[in-house]
Amino acid sequence: MPVLADCLGAREGAESGGHGTRDKQQYFNALAPRWDTLPAPDDAPARVGGFVERAVAGDAQRILDVGCGTGVLLAALLRACPRAAITELDLAEEMLRANAAKWPVERVHRVCGDGARLPLAAARFDLVLCFGVLPHFEDRYGALRELARVLRPGGALAVGHLMGSAELNAFHSGLGGPVAADVLPSSEELAAELRRLGMARVAAHEAPDWYFVRGEKPR
Ligand SMILES: C[S@@+](CC[C@H](N)C(=O)[O-])C[C@H]1O[C@@H](n2cnc3c(N)ncnc32)[C@H](O)[C@@H]1O
Repeated sequence: MPVLADCLGAREGAESGGHGTRDKQQYFNALAPRWDTLPAPDDAPARVGGFVERAVAGDAQRILDVGCGTGVLLAALLRACPRAAITELDLAEEMLRANAAKWPVERVHRVCGDGARLPLAAARFDLVLCFGVLPHFEDRYGALRELARVLRPGGALAVGHLMGSAELNAFHSGLGGPVAADVLPSSEELAAELRRLGMARVAAHEAPDWYFVRGEKPR
């Protein structure tokens, strides 16, 4: 596992992520030790599995899970893609530490970094997953462009949540702190942003307990 000392400071200069990003890094680092004990619906694992199933199409060999946290997608991903190399990336080193302790799997690699400034080569991944993280980017469109950069032509970006946009936005504003103003656009708005980025075959669906948007980088 790469050194996780200080994802923003040591890698790119303390100013690079901006205050908001650093505040969120601290916020999620502090949450990491109890992240897996926070209340979640009983059917969350099944719905997470549903997200992975819809996101994966064809034979994804290289997968990037941005904002991976402690690895909520990993059980389903390892099952759905038995040969894939999976990169788990997060801003919060404590999330990655917990992730590594839970999932000591050889084909799972961990990178500490900002999803909006990926320390990764272009056109590398067949599938980029963004589960529970999109609202936390300071510049959403810039981050989407960066995620598209690391997709190979024909690869897919999938964004998911276990809440609809209105429910999640109300939840964040109720939490207060550094995530209070973090906004998830409606699935249709996000679909339009992916099309503006040049993505094709864009699909979008949301309900009060579900959010799914997927697009493919043209070949
Ligand atoms: C709401 S948690 C979701 C974690 C995990 N995906 C899950 O559903 O359990 C958001 C995660 O995104 C990470 N994160 C926030 N901003 C990020 C950024 N700019 N780049 C990468 N990860 C980020 C946080 O550290 C945190 O682990």
